[in-house]
Order: sequence, then structure tokens, then C-alpha cells
Amino acid sequence: MDVVIVPTPAEVGERAAEVTARLLRAAGSEAVLGVATGSSPLGLYAGLAERVRAGELDLSRASAFALDEYVGLPDGHPESYREVVRRTVTEPLGMDPARVHVPDGQAADLDAACVRYERAIAESGGVDVQIVGVGVNGHIGFNEPATSLASRTRVELLTDDTRRANSRFFASIDEVPRRAVTQGLGTILDARHVVLVATGSAKADAVTAVVEGPVGARRPGSVLQLHPEVTVVVDEEAAAGLELADYYCQMTDAREALLGD
Ligand code: GLP
Repeated sequence: MDVVIVPTPAEVGERAAEVTARLLRAAGSEAVLGVATGSSPLGLYAGLAERVRAGELDLSRASAFALDEYVGLPDGHPESYREVVRRTVTEPLGMDPARVHVPDGQAADLDAACVRYERAIAESGGVDVQIVGVGVNGHIGFNEPATSLASRTRVELLTDDTRRANSRFFASIDEVPRRAVTQGLGTILDARHVVLVATGSAKADAVTAVVEGPVGARRPGSVLQLHPEVTVVVDEEAAAGLELADYYCQMTDAREALLGD
């Protein structure tokens, strides 16, 4: 894992956008981007949008696959991930809406919809760069504790912790759906590169679990230690629990010196 620690949340967005833009350019004009929702990646998306506006990045022929979607929210609900992705990714990044995919949380047969989603990802050639945030309980996507480390896209029951954390986007916790469709941990591990972003002290425990382990289903994001190409970009508050923070900073300096990166 490359662990990059920067002073502020704004620098997390900028640094993660730089890494993601470089990987997307290397993947070519039909790159496939995996997108997370939540607050953590908003700075990254803003950084990508800036590059698109400046003509430094063209995503008009790229595709995107969202990590997850609530089950049962009606069409057009502002907190459905379909809408969040449209507002924060598709429009600002100049992407073709027909190439941006979100799991179907309203399908009559959700299991069949999950199988179709997996197939669509595979048929696209697979995700080149997967953006992920991390929940306070260590989840990625909506893969809650006890998820199989080999899981595929499926319906997940949300924990009370997650519903409480996400209730800030709804009028009350009662309105937060109890279930979601999420790419599995095995699905996420298939991406060629993963970029994880986290900011703030509330994420410090989760970041420590993801980066320094142990690997296990209690903290599902720790599975990223099994992936050979992961970049973690965090601010100092989110990095506060990392035992080897100094070493990660030395590695970042050494990489930059060697690669002119
Ligand atoms: C949600 C999403 C995750 C996201 C997490 C953290 O539960 N399903 O993909 O990473 O929340 O959200 P935030 O970045 O807002 O803290």
C-alpha cells in the first residue's frame, strides 16, 4: 500500500485527484472508473472536474460503476446513490450518463440484478481505478462487518452504526433504508487499482484497521491489504492512529524522489 498523509482534507482531495487522473489517463479514453458516494471523495471528484474543465482529462468516453445503492428508494430520491452519482460524478466530470452504472435497488428480483451488475462490470473489461471511502466501522462500499472477504455484488443488511452515520443525509434515521445492494469485497479486489480517501478524526480507527490490520471481516476494508495496487490518501487527523506514520511519509518522499512523482 502507498499511504500518503497530507495536512488537510483539501489536500486529500487534490492529491487523490492527481493520482486518479494519472491512472485514468494511463487507462486510455475508455477507462472504467469505480465510484464511491459519501462525503470523503467529494474533493477528489472536484479535483477531477477541474482537470476536465481545463482540458487535461477527457472522460466523455469513459465508463463508471458505483459501488452501491440503497434498496427501495424511489426514482429521483435525492439521497439515492443514482442521484448522488449524477450530481457529483456524471455531470461535473462530463461523463456520458449511458456509461454510468449504479446497482438497481428497486429491482423486483434483486439477486438477479446483482448478477447482471457483476456481468456488466466484467463486460466493460473491469474497473481500472476504484475510488473508495471507509465507514466508521471499517466498511467499504456497504460491506459490513462479517462480510465474506470473497463476496460478490449482493444485498446487504445495514448495521445500526451505518444507518446512524448516514442519517445525516435524511430527515431521520427511520428514513434510512435497512438494506443496500453493494459490490462485494471480491468484486472490489478485482479493480486494477484502488484509491482510498479518508479525512477527520472519526475515521482514525477505521484507517488504522484498513492499513495496519489485522486482515479480517470485522473490519472489511482491511481486505485491501490483499490488493497489490492500493493508494491510501488521508489527512493527519485520519492518520492519527497509524503506528508507522513516519515510515509511510519516508516512503512517500522516497517515491517522489525516485519517480519525480
Ligand atoms: C457510505 C457509503 C460508503 C462510504 C461511507 C463513508 O456508507 N456506502 O461507500 O465510503 O458511507 O461515507 P463518508 O465518506 O460520508 O464518511
